[in-house]
Amino acid sequence: MEKLRIMSVFGTRPEAIKMCPLVRELASRPEIESLCCVTAQHRQMLDSVLEVFDCKPDWDLNIMTPRQTLSSITSKCLTGMDEAIDALKPDMILVHGDTSTTFAGALSAFYHQVPVGHVEAGLRTYDKYSPFPEEMNRKLVSAIADLYFCPTVNNRGNLLKEGITQGLFVTGNTVIDALKTTVREDYQFSTEVLNHLPYGEKKIILVTCHRRENYGEPMRNIMQALAQIAREHEDVELVYPVHLSPVVREAVDTYLRGTPRVHLIDPLPADEMHNLMARCYLVMTDSGGLQEEAPALGKPVLVLRRETERPEAVEAGTVRLAGVVQADIVAMARELIEDPEAYRKMAHAVNPYGDGHACRRIADAILWHFGRGEKPEDYRA
Ligand code: UD1
Ligand code: UDP
Repeated sequence: MEKLRIMSVFGTRPEAIKMCPLVRELASRPEIESLCCVTAQHRQMLDSVLEVFDCKPDWDLNIMTPRQTLSSITSKCLTGMDEAIDALKPDMILVHGDTSTTFAGALSAFYHQVPVGHVEAGLRTYDKYSPFPEEMNRKLVSAIADLYFCPTVNNRGNLLKEGITQGLFVTGNTVIDALKTTVREDYQFSTEVLNHLPYGEKKIILVTCHRRENYGEPMRNIMQALAQIAREHEDVELVYPVHLSPVVREAVDTYLRGTPRVHLIDPLPADEMHNLMARCYLVMTDSGGLQEEAPALGKPVLVLRRETERPEAVEAGTVRLAGVVQADIVAMARELIEDPEAYRKMAHAVNPYGDGHACRRIADAILWHFGRGEKPEDYRA
């Protein structure tokens, strides 16, 4: 029998971290030819992940430009995907999550009448503009997809409520599969600053911030809150790997650079980031991926957003919404820095997002869909 040609499409850092383990799992199956097409919506940040996971794409659209717009990403992906699909002739296309690459990848698959598997399906805030444009991207992909790989039972519930009842699998999130390959107790950082941080002596707060809906006033508030936290607490050090987006870097340069106890560094390779997270005291972030990783590593998270599509860890008590108002963010951080009991209550490892076997379940589900294997058991937290 001919091998199934399963093409994974991704373009940004988080998609790559969550898809590389799946590309590898698919490649390990004798029934599958695992193909990989990157849009390179991110360039350096994508390449860094490809290197860490030793993933060599079969096709690279290389679309990134500085300060790219949503329309330019979408239209370049669509045009580029035509050629990739014609050349690689996939039997199924896998897209991940909620980026512009995700949406354009799914739409392009539809135009070519290639079935779509959506990895990380069913996340919702039900607020059209927050996160923007991600909430709409994932809804649009839900309308196109044939198979839905939901990280949690709650994510599947969202799709069921929307009338999507076929092709649903609860798999766990592949990010936990990735974490299991990167985090090691004896890990040595390659970066000087990370090797010499006063782990254990001071409270290391790991920070990231990049979301489009936070551009402008919210991001200014967040930066000012971070500066205030660093100034007010001599026993903390903030480590902030700054996203390469020029909008983010401008806000950081204007409101945070030069503040004592704040280390502004370049984006970290995924393995360095995961091991830094494993050693830090607290995570403050507007990232989606960090909200999933930090709970698995037992680190409390303050989310620098007004909402989250990842309520599971909030319910488990390890993640709290800090919002985007300076005084609120400062107050929540202060409590976790100064009150050991409040900290202890949040700092326990929970794994609502997966058990490290999401990729196996997804590969099994794909084979089942094509009549080549057993249906996998759902993941239960
Ligand atoms: C994108 C996704 C967002 C995801 C985030 C992960 C969309 C609309 N947004 O947002 O959902 O959370 O990635 O980080 O799909 N840049 C570089 N080098 C890089 C990466 C980015 O220089 O390796 C700069 C470029 O100037 C680029 C800008 O950052 O134009 C913004 O990148 P873009 O992918 O448009 O948006 P993100 O904010 O990264
Ligand atoms: N990450 C990384 N290096 C960094 C910052 C983040 O490897 O300097 C990883 C992080 O551990 C997580 C993913 O990138 O796996 C999250 O990506 P991002 O925050 O850019 O996007 P989001 O998850 O919000 O879509």
